[in-house]
Amino acid sequence: MRLVLAALALAAVAHAQFVNFGLSCSNISLVGTGPTEELEATCGNGSGGNAGAQVIPLSTCLTNQNGKLGCQVNGNAMNSCSGCALSNTTVLTCSCSPVSGPAVLTSFDLNTCIGNINGRLFC
Ligand SMILES: *[C@@H]1O[C@H](CO)[C@@H](O)[C@H](O)[C@H]1NC(C)=O
Ligand SMILES: *[C@@H]1O[C@H](CO)[C@@H](O)[C@H](O)[C@H]1NC(C)=O
Ligand SMILES: *[C@@H]1O[C@H](CO)[C@@H](O)[C@H](O)[C@H]1NC(C)=O
Repeated sequence: MRLVLAALALAAVAHAQFVNFGLSCSNISLVGTGPTEELEATCGNGSGGNAGAQVIPLSTCLTNQNGKLGCQVNGNAMNSCSGCALSNTTVLTCSCSPVSGPAVLTSFDLNTCIGNINGRLFC
């Protein structure tokens, strides 16, 4: 039990600075189109300031798994997804091509994949 608690405490420390970007960032928007489309946001740095507007390419964080968006570093989702829009602050909806057949609309909460570390966006 003590070991488990110690492990949980270590895990909490290790992830202490990776915070919910939907709650800690403002001006969350999409920039550009196609393979280089990016997420832009201005994120709190945890001590009352920010590091200015940050951008992270959607393809750096997301993959298209047979028509569904998923979280994967350098997943290149935007090679096969388009027409993306944000709703409810962090929910990305795109039209993504499955392995075969027409593109399908799919939604993914970016908060499950992207976080804010000291005012910068990471996935
Ligand atoms: C958000 O965007 C608006 C309009 O572009 C700008 O005036 C404001 O300074 C921005 N806020 C932050 C925190 O970047
Ligand atoms: C956060 O931003 C403020 C204001 O720009 C700055 O003084 C502070 O050093 C920053 N803190 C971190 C951890 O970057
Ligand atoms: C919007 O996001 C909030 C926070 O994640 C969630 O509680 C709420 O259910 C969402 N609303 C809709 C309409 O999806």
